[in-house]
Amino acid sequence: METLKIALLGGGTVGSAFYRLVQERLSDFHALGFSPRFLGVLVRDPAKPRPIPAELLRLEPPDLLEADVVVEAMGGVEAPLGLVLPALEAGIPLITANKALLAEAWDKLRPFAEEGLIYHEASVMAGTPALSFLETLRGSQLLELHGILNGTTLFILQEMEKGRTYGEALLEAQRLGYAEADPTLDVEGIDAAHKLTLLARLLVDPGFPFPEVRAKGISGLTPEALKGAEAQGERVRLLASLYGEGGRWRAEVAPRRLPQGHPLAQAQGNALLVRAHPLGEVFVTGPGAGGEATASGLLADLFRLLSGAPGHLPAPQAKAPLAEGSPFPEVE
Ligand SMILES: NC(=O)c1ccc[n+]([C@@H]2O[C@H](COP(=O)([O-])OP(=O)(O)OC[C@H]3O[C@@H](n4cnc5c(N)ncnc54)[C@H](OP(=O)(O)O)[C@@H]3O)[C@@H](O)[C@H]2O)c1
Repeated sequence: METLKIALLGGGTVGSAFYRLVQERLSDFHALGFSPRFLGVLVRDPAKPRPIPAELLRLEPPDLLEADVVVEAMGGVEAPLGLVLPALEAGIPLITANKALLAEAWDKLRPFAEEGLIYHEASVMAGTPALSFLETLRGSQLLELHGILNGTTLFILQEMEKGRTYGEALLEAQRLGYAEADPTLDVEGIDAAHKLTLLARLLVDPGFPFPEVRAKGISGLTPEALKGAEAQGERVRLLASLYGEGGRWRAEVAPRRLPQGHPLAQAQGNALLVRAHPLGEVFVTGPGAGGEATASGLLADLFRLLSGAPGHLPAPQAKAPLAEGSPFPEVE
């Protein structure tokens, strides 16, 4: 049995769930010939209650160069980047759920992604297949993609459909722990824009720049706008869309109107709809957040790594769009 040395950065919602899941699935590791061992878990406050043995908690990162794999679940951009870069330079694979890191520090991370060292299924739609789903679509050519990639804004819109104002729905989301105290990243569409950037790089352009993704959120939406859509048999959803416009790929997050019966309007979780040639239309939906759902995406990546498969490779080259326009009008 080979020891698998895991350095875990972050022991919060996702990191703790990942630690627990690894313990639960030891027999699967053993069946693959590995015995996982955590070198340490980086946290800020070791006194916080969490399901990780105290002797594993570290205020300074464990020696990442000792690790067989680094699992990053701390969040942020600069702090994790400074830790993972030396490990990647030493050829140590990285598994991460951090879409902000990948979207915003791509100039530094892209060479390692192209080497197959970065696994990040959990960074988009948690454990619901998004990247692996799109990898299969590489046998076709993308025509357009539309996703509900942020659960917090979906919850707020669903509450507004019940008659709440935006402010009331946001307070309820915060009370239930779905929205942060500072909800900007979610409600202004930035979190969805981070994720859309990763999908665009996987499918159409390995260098797709994050600043080119236009993000318009839901904070300006009124119950009247939602009621107006309903009266016309439509629903408003914050869509992350990638489609052709003027011969270029346009990536944008915006509230858009969809027919009420459309699978994206009906979805109760995160969802991704893709139209591709020659495959046609495909749709996937499932949980897009939560400690356990996200940890299951990290674990899927760890099993992928142990099977010898490379990480999530960006598209080999930039491609021109084959079709133009989005069928879903933006809410003015
Ligand atoms: N939560 C979700 O549903 C979800 C879903 C998909 C992706 N993600 C991504 O997963 C990552 C983690 O999210 P989370 O919800 O687990 O966050 P979290 O609960 O805030 O956990 C972050 C962990 O990292 C530690 N940490 C953060 N900054 C640190 C620093 N500078 N030095 C040392 N330790 C530090 C924290 O320590 P303390 O515990 O001591 O504070 C905590 O253990 C983020 O990138 C997030 O976008 C989360």
